[in-house]
Amino acid sequence: MNPEHPGAEQRGTVHGQIVERHAIAGPDGAARAAGTTAAVPAPFHEATDELTRFMMVYKFGLAEIRTKIDILAEELAHRGTGNPIEHVNPRLKSAASIAAKARRIECPLTFDDLRARIRDIAGIRIVCSFVSDVYTVADMLTRQPDVNPVQTKDYIAKPKDNGYRSLHMIVEIPVFLSDQVVAVPVEVQLRTVAMDFWASLEHKIYYKHNPDIPPALRDELAAAAEDAARLDKRMERLHQEIHGPRR
Ligand code: GTP
Ligand code: MG
Repeated sequence: MNPEHPGAEQRGTVHGQIVERHAIAGPDGAARAAGTTAAVPAPFHEATDELTRFMMVYKFGLAEIRTKIDILAEELAHRGTGNPIEHVNPRLKSAASIAAKARRIECPLTFDDLRARIRDIAGIRIVCSFVSDVYTVADMLTRQPDVNPVQTKDYIAKPKDNGYRSLHMIVEIPVFLSDQVVAVPVEVQLRTVAMDFWASLEHKIYYKHNPDIPPALRDELAAAAEDAARLDKRMERLHQEIHGPRR
C-alpha cells in the first residue's frame, strides 16, 4: 500500500475494482457469496459487483468520519483559539493493496475474512498543529456517542524504534444502509505537522531502500525524529507563551 500517498490509493480503488478482481475473488476467478466463505463460480460482473458492495461501506464510513472532522475543524476555527487541525487526508485502500496486505498477513481472500482482519481499509489522517491538539482532537472524536474506539496505539507516548510518532486509533462508526446498520472500522491517524514531515520522508526512504535501509541512514532518521519531537515541544511552548494554553 501507499500510506503516505492517500490520493494514489483513492485513484487506485476505481481502477482496482476492474483490474484486481481476481486478487479478491481468487485466482480461479470464483466470487464469494455475500456473508459466506464458500467459493461460488460466478461470471465476471458478479465478482465486480460483490467487490463494489464490499468497498462501498468503507467509503461511507470514511465520509461519516470526514464530516465529523470537518465540523470540528470549522467550529474550532470560530472559537478564537485557532484551529488545531492543519489538514485532513482520507484514503480508501485499493483492492490491490487489500489483496497485498491479505497475502502478507496470511488472510484468506474471502470478504468475511478481509472484513474481520483488515481494519484499515478506510483510513483518515488528521494533521494537527501541536502535540496537545492531537490528544484534544482524538478526545473530541471518541467522546461522540456514535464513534466507538476499538483500538488505540499511542506511538507518541511510545515511539517506534525507527522514531515514528503518531496516535493511531481504529474507530467503528455506524453507517445506515437501506436495510441494515453496519459498524464500519476506520483507521484514524493523528500527528503533528513535524511528525507528518518526518513520516513522509521516512516513507520515501524506506520504499527506495526496501527492505534494507543502511544502518547509518536508519540512525540518522531516528535522530531526525528526535529533532522533530524537540521542535514540536519548542513550538508548543512558544505558542503557549504567546497565546496561553488552548481552551
Ligand atoms: P499496517 O499493516 O501497515 O497497517 O500496520 P499495523 O497494522 O501494524 O498498524 P500500525 O498502527 O503499526 O501502522 C499503520 C499505519 O501507520 C501504516 O500503514 C502507516 O501509514 C503508518 N506507519 C506505521 N509505522 C510507520 C513508520 O515506521 N513509518 C511511516 N512513514 N509510517 C508508518
Ligand atoms: Mg495500514
